[in-house]
Amino acid sequence: MSTADIRSVLRGDGGRFIYLASALAALNGLLFGFDTGIISGAFLYINDTFAMSPLVEGIVVSGAMAGAALGAAVGGQLADRLGRRRLILLGAGVFFLGSFTMAVAPSVPVLVAGRLIDGVAIGFASIVGPLYISEIAPPRIRGALTSLNQLMVTVGILVSYFVNYAFADAGAWRWMLGTGMIPAVVLAIGMLKMPESPRWLFERGRKEEAEAVLRRTRQGDIEDELDEIAETVEKQSDTGVRELLEPWLRPALIVGLGLAIFQQITGINAVIYYAPTILESTGFGSTTSILATVGIGVINVVMTVVAIALIDRVGRRRLLQVGIGGMTITVAVLGTVFYLPGFDGAIGWIATASLMLFVAFFAIGLGPVFWLLISEIYPLAVRGSAMGAVTVANWGANLVVSLLFPVLTANAGEATTFWLFGACSLAALLFTYWLVPETKGRSLEAIEADLRGNVTASETAD
Ligand code: BGC
Repeated sequence: MSTADIRSVLRGDGGRFIYLASALAALNGLLFGFDTGIISGAFLYINDTFAMSPLVEGIVVSGAMAGAALGAAVGGQLADRLGRRRLILLGAGVFFLGSFTMAVAPSVPVLVAGRLIDGVAIGFASIVGPLYISEIAPPRIRGALTSLNQLMVTVGILVSYFVNYAFADAGAWRWMLGTGMIPAVVLAIGMLKMPESPRWLFERGRKEEAEAVLRRTRQGDIEDELDEIAETVEKQSDTGVRELLEPWLRPALIVGLGLAIFQQITGINAVIYYAPTILESTGFGSTTSILATVGIGVINVVMTVVAIALIDRVGRRRLLQVGIGGMTITVAVLGTVFYLPGFDGAIGWIATASLMLFVAFFAIGLGPVFWLLISEIYPLAVRGSAMGAVTVANWGANLVVSLLFPVLTANAGEATTFWLFGACSLAALLFTYWLVPETKGRSLEAIEADLRGNVTASETAD
């Protein structure tokens, strides 16, 4: 956000309301981050209550990601059917139920059920948070507002590190997991007062309501925006999910799926979920490792703020390229550090600095830009379903990387594992350079018109 933007927030231009609605919807991101981050600490103490085999341990940790893939699979269609706002409300209820179930779980199967339920809510949240915000935001600041959601993901992860720390002495894992109920309640109460997405309303034929929402969230003329929405709705066919497979949508689908998979296979969650373990293997003690992990959480938040400040000015493509380029270099350095024989103090610090820079580069590019782009590049008629499909791929890749990372480091070694991430980053860089479009400052309808136009043009050329 530029200083002019910040001043306009303070003045309440464009309707002060839009900022409140976006901030509330971004609580979806907070829950997503908190609920994925909290298990790392809670896990250490669950073992004292229930005896778990390594397989069951794996199921408890990855249960949420499997649930999230499931939630994303149905969440997209639900967002199209129920509407964005109602899905957020439903999601808040599911979050509450999941956290409650885990907090009171009398046995491992109930705990796993709680994790799965929680995961489903994370899956809903990962789609509907960015979707809702991108559809109520004015184009000029859509990037910044939508990326609030990713900012809250990083804040949620950081808060979970602190909550883990606060309850660690008491070993109170039930409190750690139960804390997730608080933001769920705030989200539910807040969203009751928020409007539905004007684009979804319009598509459902509820034009007057759509108009009323636009009036409430914009200052000045809304006619142009209304006309654009009307035109897009008129053009769309009603083939629904099948339309996802149509040729004109293929480029957008490839971009979304590619970025979804690259966001994970370049290794971010190997760092987010396993940072203390990685740091300990460089020779650091537990306390230093945990502190450095908090440092990584802080950097993740701070650099996401920087990305938000830049995203509507320098554009999505540039941030992606700088971010992924930086990730490639830092992860290659990390691999090399592990390759060198024997750690002394200096090498431990080089490893730590590389990890921190790696997270910083993720936070400025692939982190926020992926979630933003997938809320922008799909046509209204299939936006929910398309985001659902792409988000399922993101959670699927997340699940694979988090399950394989310990196996890979144990068998192939840290150096090879990090170099592998480096090779994936390089591929992601080329992918971005060749295929990812710029959407900065354009209306969602113009982006859609472009997509339709391009293929019509290329079909004519054929
Ligand atoms: C990713 C998550 C990751 C988080 C870290 C998100 O954009 O989707 O998998 O844990 O960023 O900040």
